[in-house]
Amino acid sequence: MPLFDQLPPFLQGLLAPALLYYQAVKSYITILLQSLLNDRQVPTDLRAKAFGRFWNQISPRPDPTTPLIGSATLVPPLLSQASGTVLDVGPGNGSILHNFESAAPNIIQIYGAEPATELHKTLRLNADATKIGRKYEVLSADAGAASIARELVRAGVIREASEAREVFDTIVCVRVLCSVPDLRSTITDLYTFLKPGGKLLVCEHTANPWRTRKGSVIARVMQSVYMLMGWSYFVGDCELTRDIEDELRREGKGRWESVDVERHFGKACLTYVSGVLVKKGK
Ligand SMILES: C[S@@+](CC[C@H](N)C(=O)[O-])C[C@H]1O[C@@H](n2cnc3c(N)ncnc32)[C@H](O)[C@@H]1O
Repeated sequence: MPLFDQLPPFLQGLLAPALLYYQAVKSYITILLQSLLNDRQVPTDLRAKAFGRFWNQISPRPDPTTPLIGSATLVPPLLSQASGTVLDVGPGNGSILHNFESAAPNIIQIYGAEPATELHKTLRLNADATKIGRKYEVLSADAGAASIARELVRAGVIREASEAREVFDTIVCVRVLCSVPDLRSTITDLYTFLKPGGKLLVCEHTANPWRTRKGSVIARVMQSVYMLMGWSYFVGDCELTRDIEDELRREGKGRWESVDVERHFGKACLTYVSGVLVKKGK
């Protein structure tokens, strides 16, 4: 957006979610009108369809000639650390999967747990366009333990759901923990799925640390304003005001061998926490 690009960086940091919100609402209204005109009814999965359309629009196939900006710069160094058997939680349409390529020799298999089936077709296409395509299997699952266990049985990774623990060497969460219904239990489930010594790679937007010098009161207020405008409803249950770093540290207290995460973009609404948590070995 040329006009947006000319704004001073601090305004861009406050208004970036407004652009996304606009696209999400537009997608919702488009799907609603199309269904009313064509089928004369509101689809039961209206929000899911609208989110799928929105995400496909804002996450086009990567163009290697375009320089990375913002949170996109955090993803390549993170995903290059993936190894072994990998669980990719909420991969969306797979537009960031090429970032696994540098780790391809160290990766045995990646399981992408994506509940939005509207995104599966593009996810498969994007996976197949990368070096890890043949190692990438799409699971129709959310981040919940029962859902992933069921799909792992179907995929033949384990024989029965009770074996669904200590399966993965690496678990990847990029922009997904903001949307899970119960963050605390998801972190516990993912911890259980990790092998001892396994890595959780996270790159998540999080509540602005407004109480610290690195944060911004205005950005924190704007996060709440977007939430009041129905952000979660239109943007796939995403919550801007979750303190994901705090929850990761608290929930795993004494259980992680190391927690090496950093906050970025502290003056913006889309403040990120990114880094690696290693599960204690045996
Ligand atoms: C913001 S998108 C991020 C996609 C991708 N990780 C990326 O950064 O390009 C969030 C993704 O998480 C998925 N998602 C939402 N709720 C989820 C849940 N409970 N468990 C797993 N994935 C979920 C959504 O369907 C969506 O594809």
